[in-house]
Amino acid sequence: MEKVLELISKEVGDAFEAAGYDRELGKVTISNRPDLCEYQCNGAMAGAKKYGKAPFMIADEVAEKLQNNGMFDKVESVKPGFLNIIVSGDFARSYIVKMLHEKHMGVTLPGHEPTFILDYGGPNVAKPLHVGHLRSAVIGESIKRILKYTGHKVIGDIHLGDWGLQMGLVITGLKERKPDLCYFDPDYQGAYPKEAPFTVSELEEIYPAASKKSKEDEQFKAEAMEATKLLQDGYKPYRALWHHILNVSVADLKNNYKKLSVDFDLWRGESDVHEVIPGMVDYMKQHEYAHESQGALVVDVAEETDTKEIPPCMILKSDGASLYNTTDLATIKQRMEEFHPEGLIYVVDKRQELYFTQVFRCARKTKLVLPETELHFVGFGTMNGSDGKPFKTRQGGVMRLENLIAEIDEKMYARIKEGNLDISDEEAKDTAHKVALSAIKYGDLSNQPSKDYIFDVDKFTSFEGDTGPYILYTMVRIKSILKKYEAEGGVVKDAKLDNPDSDAMKALMLLLTRFADSVESAAADLAPNRICAYIYDLSNAFNSFYHGTKILAEADENKKSSYIALLTTTLKILETGIDLLGFSAPERM
Ligand code: ARG
Repeated sequence: MEKVLELISKEVGDAFEAAGYDRELGKVTISNRPDLCEYQCNGAMAGAKKYGKAPFMIADEVAEKLQNNGMFDKVESVKPGFLNIIVSGDFARSYIVKMLHEKHMGVTLPGHEPTFILDYGGPNVAKPLHVGHLRSAVIGESIKRILKYTGHKVIGDIHLGDWGLQMGLVITGLKERKPDLCYFDPDYQGAYPKEAPFTVSELEEIYPAASKKSKEDEQFKAEAMEATKLLQDGYKPYRALWHHILNVSVADLKNNYKKLSVDFDLWRGESDVHEVIPGMVDYMKQHEYAHESQGALVVDVAEETDTKEIPPCMILKSDGASLYNTTDLATIKQRMEEFHPEGLIYVVDKRQELYFTQVFRCARKTKLVLPETELHFVGFGTMNGSDGKPFKTRQGGVMRLENLIAEIDEKMYARIKEGNLDISDEEAKDTAHKVALSAIKYGDLSNQPSKDYIFDVDKFTSFEGDTGPYILYTMVRIKSILKKYEAEGGVVKDAKLDNPDSDAMKALMLLLTRFADSVESAAADLAPNRICAYIYDLSNAFNSFYHGTKILAEADENKKSSYIALLTTTLKILETGIDLLGFSAPERM
């Protein structure tokens, strides 16, 4: 289905053509002066030179052709040569009715389903999830949903950090605490226990302690490196231990991501490409993509046009060990061979941008990807506290994601209980979590991903302003009106939308017609913030309509039915919008 802007542009283009001008001049945009008109066209200004005519003369002629056109209430030529456009209520209504019959409400779906791999989340095994991981999960989940909705096949992969020195650190830390475990007895001959020799909380203590110690104690660090090497080389006791670490950690991660309504298709990690690395390294050497430099193996990725230095991509360290780079490249190789995707998208802290420039260039140069494979880096900024520094607990420590969610859940629970005295504890809890998620996710997603933002709990949880709870509150308001309508004997699904009978109704309808445009633009730019901006405008337009209209008290049954249809549509669009952002609405709040 054609988007509103396309339809209007086509009509205006026809008029340019009929008046003897290039139809391409008829490109219409949303008005940047909504007080004057709804849409505008600056084509006459652009064509003036080519046709050697004053722009207002062209605009006059085109406007003339558009009089008595059912699509418009008014097309006006204004000096020096703009076309100000107001569409007809009938056009808006019929567009909405048609859009509701479309599969994805007017979104243009590609002819085939292109596959994209989305790399997001990226937590590190054995370390507690902290708020830094929040952004990747929240942004990635929304991008996944937006791309799916716009007709892509998306495979979301968590890409666990489950290999490398951190695992050696945990093993060495554990050895220090529990030296008597069979895994540390070189003479042990038996099978390794099925039960993990630690709990998740123990595990989470071991890593930070070991990491700290390795920075102060050379001997300890050397041991951790040795343990890492043994693990990677397949030393059985450490592999067995590593499986325990992975299992305990992944069970905990699954729990946490579930609370966030974040859901991965693949739970793979760096370790999964361990066996891909040797072959990839050989291939890079054979084709002379990689060369030795000071004992290390590197691929040059600098380009002549670079304005800043892009260092070579290191594939192997001088001791032959692989790096973060190496696993990422091997993962690209594996993903290409296994899924043949059209593109790969990474949602990672923007401080890793240079790193991904190197990796992407290296993947292209070494032909691990096809020339046409899209490689996207969605780098996100830091989540800061109100002091403008990275978000911390009140005690100044790293805030654990679990605790952050629990804190906001609690705050919302108190608020919901206070506002709905008859609500059961169970419903209040469920509602509180929904509202809390909307606060956290919308607070994040309403910013452009690359921007740093301040995590302001009071602002984000407010039921007013540009917040998740405000959007939910609007939806709950609509749900409550629809329920009352049904209780009074009305049948919501029989309601029929009519042409707008007020400015507020027209404004709301115009916004509804722009749904597909906003989703497509969010998909094209991997920018969930576009959806936030759209549903915020839509909620505002709805609330203006609501405050100026007697809905249930309307005596004219046709009008009332039309209002109800408008409410149902608004609710449906808002529901779709928040689902694309990764949260949902309660029945009341
Ligand atoms: N585990 C990494 C980190 O915590 C993020 C992983 C990002 N994804 C990737 N393919 N490198 O920094």
